[in-house]
Amino acid sequence: MKVPATGSFESMDDFVNKVKTITPDYYQEVTRIINRHLKEFVDEFGRKPNLADIGGAGVFPFDITIPNKICIIDIFQKPHHIILPDNAEWVIQNILDEKISRNEKYDIVIMSGLLHHLADKRNNIRRNLTLCLKNVKNLLALRGCCLIFESICPPYFDTLQDLLFPIYSRILKGVLKFPYARLLSLKEITDALNSMNYHYSMLDFKQIKQHYCAGYKVSSKIYPIRYICVAYYT
Ligand SMILES: C[S@@+](CC[C@H](N)C(=O)[O-])C[C@H]1O[C@@H](n2cnc3c(N)ncnc32)[C@H](O)[C@@H]1O
Repeated sequence: MKVPATGSFESMDDFVNKVKTITPDYYQEVTRIINRHLKEFVDEFGRKPNLADIGGAGVFPFDITIPNKICIIDIFQKPHHIILPDNAEWVIQNILDEKISRNEKYDIVIMSGLLHHLADKRNNIRRNLTLCLKNVKNLLALRGCCLIFESICPPYFDTLQDLLFPIYSRILKGVLKFPYARLLSLKEITDALNSMNYHYSMLDFKQIKQHYCAGYKVSSKIYPIRYICVAYYT
């Protein structure tokens, strides 16, 4: 199968600073949860974990001094202005590539804000989500943990997006110069996890009032999304 081409953030001018300025509360919450997991890992195993941040974009929403090694996996080249810490590398790789394999295995894999960007030209969001989860399995170490942070839409909104995808994806790509996006409902995510017999738990995530949407700040009053954090273990 040809590797699905999802949307890159390459052409976005300083995505990292923009997104952190618009939704600082989101990153505060993500950082709190990841740091807790990193510290728990050190306490339990007596060593520093290796961490992979898929679709990481150079945001680093965690304490970079806790992991042993950090691997940012993204589909675009590291922007020049992002300086990597000594324990980090940036790998250009598509998580939907079935041939994805790395010698290194990761104790903690993060995917923050990635899943809704796994749509491609023809949408295929559910198929690509399953492919992504399968590939992550190959990256996780024994007793590894995957933390998914995702903005989810109300149940009716998934079908509506599928109907409108041919139109709005052209606007997103052509006019707004933004990557493909197709928000997932909670059921779509849990269905995909269940279909692979992953044992997952939902973690508390404090909701925020302002969202980042296609480069703009949008109030939750008009953009009906909610954030979830799912953790699953190998
Ligand atoms: C919304 S950004 C999230 C960035 C960061 N994780 C955060 O929390 O702000 C989505 C990122 O996923 C990357 N991405 C999209 N499709 C991907 C794929 N198939 N494989 C790896 N990364 C991908 C994009 O290039 C982008 O950097």
